Amino acid sequence: MTYPDYIYELCHVTYDMWNKGWDEYNGGNVSYRLTKEEASSIEADFAGTSYTYYAENRKEVEVLDVPEHIQGEYLLITASGSHFRTLCLQPHVDTGIIQLTPKGYQVVAGFVTGKRPTSEIFMHVLAHAARLKVDTNHRVVIHNHATNIVIYSLLDEVTSESLTLDLWSVLTESIVVFHDGIAVLPWEVPGTKLIGEDTARELETHRLVVWSKHGVLSTGRNYQDGFGLIETADKAAHIALELKRVSGKSLYENNVLSKSDLKKVCDVLGVEGKYLNDETIISQS
Ligand code: 13P
Ligand code: ZN
Repeated sequence: MTYPDYIYELCHVTYDMWNKGWDEYNGGNVSYRLTKEEASSIEADFAGTSYTYYAENRKEVEVLDVPEHIQGEYLLITASGSHFRTLCLQPHVDTGIIQLTPKGYQVVAGFVTGKRPTSEIFMHVLAHAARLKVDTNHRVVIHNHATNIVIYSLLDEVTSESLTLDLWSVLTESIVVFHDGIAVLPWEVPGTKLIGEDTARELETHRLVVWSKHGVLSTGRNYQDGFGLIETADKAAHIALELKRVSGKSLYENNVLSKSDLKKVCDVLGVEGKYLNDETIISQS
């Protein structure tokens, strides 16, 4: 029994995220937008696997008004309540393929015991819609509870500007990985349409969004892009937290990168670094 690659990759990424401590119990959710080629061979690809393919009588589940340009797209998506520690053992139970309709979705394969897509489905649908407008190769949305980013948002009221600059200033490569910065939303109730809409707005100009006091989400062209963005941001948050703890000083009283250092990296990358022209934030620059 072999699954299509996008199932194996989902198994790997969910297990790796659990291993990192980012997806306790049912925490986190992932979706992947199938290519046209993958979508055209779902029935054949799942024949002889543990997945069920629903050839007929697919009911439309009404959830939200799906933006027109992503209606008809196929998403592999994790189930609400799925455990990333064990998802690999039963992907046919904990994931399914849905096709987006004008008002929601139809289940095409998977979810064999009747589970439903993640409670963050609003965010996943609206996030795919937002990123597809910016990048036609966009495919993956990942949400998890990356520990150091969550701690960071619990210590202080962080903003998109303050968190982006903090993370850039402690890990040279972080501005290379996310030169578009990291957006921050204030705390909101999870699983709501509102958090989905607010996230989608930020995704017009970022690939990474922090949900204060909850977690983070990333988007990318493949699973590795999404994982790597969070891995880098979480590593930088860890360094910043340790730096403050070890030194007993505020971040910018330490020997961190200055704005002029960061501007030099942007020059080499040929990108305009956000926030780097405001001299008031990093006092050393
Ligand atoms: P689900 O189990 O519904 O995916 O919810 C997990 C989560 O992290 C909600 O934000
Ligand atoms: Zn969550």
